[in-house]
Amino acid sequence: MKLATSYTYSSPTSVTPIHSVFLQSRRKFSFNIFQGSSSSASSTAASAFTQTRRRRTPVMVSTRNYTHAHYLPPWFSVAPMMEWTDVHYRTLARLISKHAWLYTEMLAAETIVYQKDNLDRFLYFPPEQHPIVLQIGGNNLENLAKATQLANSYKYDEINFNCGCPSPRVAGHGCFGARLMLDPKFVAEAMSVIAANTDVPVSVKCRIGVDDHDSYNELCDFIYQVSSQSPTRHFIIHSRKALLNGISPAENRSIPPLKYEYFYGLLRDFPDLRFTVNGGINAIDEVNAARKAGAHGVMVGRAAFNNPWNTLGHVDTAIYGSPSSGVTRREILKKYEVYGEAVLGKYGQKPNVRDVAKPLLSLFYAQPGNSLWKRKADAAFLHCKTMKSFFEETLVAIPDYVLDAPVGAPPSGCKDPFANIHSMLPPPYESREQELQYA
Ligand SMILES: Cc1cc2nc3c(=O)[nH]c(=O)nc-3n(C[C@H](O)[C@H](O)[C@H](O)COP(=O)(O)O)c2cc1C
Repeated sequence: MKLATSYTYSSPTSVTPIHSVFLQSRRKFSFNIFQGSSSSASSTAASAFTQTRRRRTPVMVSTRNYTHAHYLPPWFSVAPMMEWTDVHYRTLARLISKHAWLYTEMLAAETIVYQKDNLDRFLYFPPEQHPIVLQIGGNNLENLAKATQLANSYKYDEINFNCGCPSPRVAGHGCFGARLMLDPKFVAEAMSVIAANTDVPVSVKCRIGVDDHDSYNELCDFIYQVSSQSPTRHFIIHSRKALLNGISPAENRSIPPLKYEYFYGLLRDFPDLRFTVNGGINAIDEVNAARKAGAHGVMVGRAAFNNPWNTLGHVDTAIYGSPSSGVTRREILKKYEVYGEAVLGKYGQKPNVRDVAKPLLSLFYAQPGNSLWKRKADAAFLHCKTMKSFFEETLVAIPDYVLDAPVGAPPSGCKDPFANIHSMLPPPYESREQELQYA
């Protein structure tokens, strides 16, 4: 098996010759690459940037990897969440929404490499789960290359690289996760290596900064270096910084404030790239508001796990404009039962009923019978060996009218967190081009 570990952009999808252009006019570049696909808000922002930018140093931008440049990120995606967005949760999510893109939990490149004889356990997913993105993490180029190669046969739709996880298990062990934002040169190498070993698009998920490296210009330097030195064209921005000072991963998802103005600054300052906003977006109205303000894509994490029915249940209709399927939770659970029975005990004792039923526990969030259902589920986990018996024992807690109702109208009247965002943007990026090229 031949692995590409140098960053020569040898992606098999590259259809244009490798070259770079000196951009005298940003407008021309963004028109060519993304013609007709920008929303009006982002193109307004982009053209404002073009005018400011013309007076500044021209920016060297690579047009290699043309196919990746044309890639459009999903309008709506479910965030990678370790121990949450496993294959079982994704099965439930896909039963509720046909259009949402689903991200796997982060898988360390080393896990994939060392478990190469046991890959199905980590990488297999039912074909219905497309479109699906594999998120990998790591700090070793050779392992990233091997892991990408090994994942190829599973046919994920995109490979995403984790530069946002602040967990001490990840960030503390060498340069991994969010800490990688301090080493954009390595991230560019890693992305080039990943892209060279796959023929699907690649993307980076990162924070807006790390510890005291939290200025808008530093974020732009990271984006600039990674995008100009690798084929990365899509960045998912968890719009709060990571603190690597020992606070817990959960605190790292709530204590550092959200700064959506940084995200929208990136849309203005890098009009030839694609950006997905993430962090604190909980309602469908907010997803649509983020897109209306110019975001190419919106990623939702905790809300999609903690309240899947009311979050994912509106995605196909309110975001993608599909007619309502009218599906009910009873119908979803019937299909889930078939899935669950087929996978129980696939790997010896695992998965057990508790593993398979875990994502269902929030399906009746805030509904009558929810607390009783959860208590019954806890008791049933102790002895139920089949999904059928689990449902027979627990679903009596939920009234029929809840089980048989299609998803209602999305809640309206949410505050629009992006209403004034374009008046709050940081000053335009001042590229330190010369310094950065030789950094
Ligand atoms: C339990 C849990 C596990 C997570 N695991 C990952 C992960 O594996 N990779 C990653 O990039 N982010 C991970 N995250 C962060 C989410 O992807 C997302 O960026 C964060 O929750 C903010 O989005 P939200 O406010 O919509 O939840 C995790 C979050 C949670 C709650």
